[in-house]
Amino acid sequence: DKGLAVFTSGGDSQGMNAAVRACVRMAIYLGCKVYFIREGYQGMVDGGDCIQEANWASVSSIIHRGGTIIGSARCQDFRERQGRLKAANNLIQKGITNLVVIGGDGSLTGANLFRQEWPSLLDELVKNKTITTEQQDKFNVLHIVGLVGSIDNDFCGTDMTIGTDTALHRIIEAIDAISSTAYSHQRTFIMEVMGRHCGYLPVVAGIISEADYVFLPESPPPQDWPDRLVLKLEQERSAGQRLNIVIVAEGAMDREGHPITAEDVKKVIDERLKHDARITVLGHVQRGGNPSAFDRILACRMGAEATLALMEATKESVPVVISLDGNQAVRVPLMECVERTQAVAKAMKEKRWADAVKLRGRS
Ligand code: F6P
Repeated sequence: DKGLAVFTSGGDSQGMNAAVRACVRMAIYLGCKVYFIREGYQGMVDGGDCIQEANWASVSSIIHRGGTIIGSARCQDFRERQGRLKAANNLIQKGITNLVVIGGDGSLTGANLFRQEWPSLLDELVKNKTITTEQQDKFNVLHIVGLVGSIDNDFCGTDMTIGTDTALHRIIEAIDAISSTAYSHQRTFIMEVMGRHCGYLPVVAGIISEADYVFLPESPPPQDWPDRLVLKLEQERSAGQRLNIVIVAEGAMDREGHPITAEDVKKVIDERLKHDARITVLGHVQRGGNPSAFDRILACRMGAEATLALMEATKESVPVVISLDGNQAVRVPLMECVERTQAVAKAMKEKRWADAVKLRGRS
């Protein structure tokens, strides 16, 4: 009779639906009452129809769908204590004390803070007579488990986040398509690739598309990058290549920390090489469409494991993230991952790029 809810938060990613489905079905299989929380933390704060009981059929035919059928949002209200009080009350009224949060590091950090604050939120709800002391005793511990849904693969502690593989498929399909037309017209294409401050998508895309040059956040080029770029592209053309592909990560910068944009790169190519150069910004195409086979199975395994972890949680257990370690779905302490992810962000800000890469580890 345990109440469990699942929600997706922050930017969506392909495979989130498969994860939701696995959580719901495993929870039903284990005899839980299971809920969707629609629109992420906003739905938790708003309550009402946003918190809806799920059944076996409500997650049928979603495993192949991109995005998240239960909606996702970035929520300001949940950042305020007043919003979290409302959210706590909404959960208690439904008997929910187990949460699966599917999102990036911000969403997972928010969940952990909520869990830590839970006893004091309940105290306040009792004090203002919103809940009874019986309810407080019955629902005194909130258990949370995180699943990392993000195309960026920027979360420490897991080899792959849910959505990364599909985003790579989208990117490589686009580069393959661009390459054929670039070949015909001997053009140079500059492709802007997502990933925020993480270069995983652009670097892997660069390797698997035989790109000529890749600009990455973690490996900023020296100030003379225009000369190096021109030299490299010229070499490729002299070797008989009819096209060039340059990948620019959306978070690319130089060693001074100034952004390097696709426009900056195009300007150099226009002025110095006189190639017919074009920019393609892949944008949200990378985050859409059906999840790959890899993301589907990853999400299925992670979702099922998340529900199991919640059912096995005790008052003493620390919240965990379900991570991929090699080919195993494992439970890793949530705060360990969040702290490492934040240390990476700090290292990047302080221009300690090698430290950032080292801290990020295998992902
Ligand atoms: O984190 C996923 C991501 O797609 C990043 O790669 C990108 O920088 C960002 O989200 C875009 O966010 P939004 O959809 O809010 O524009």
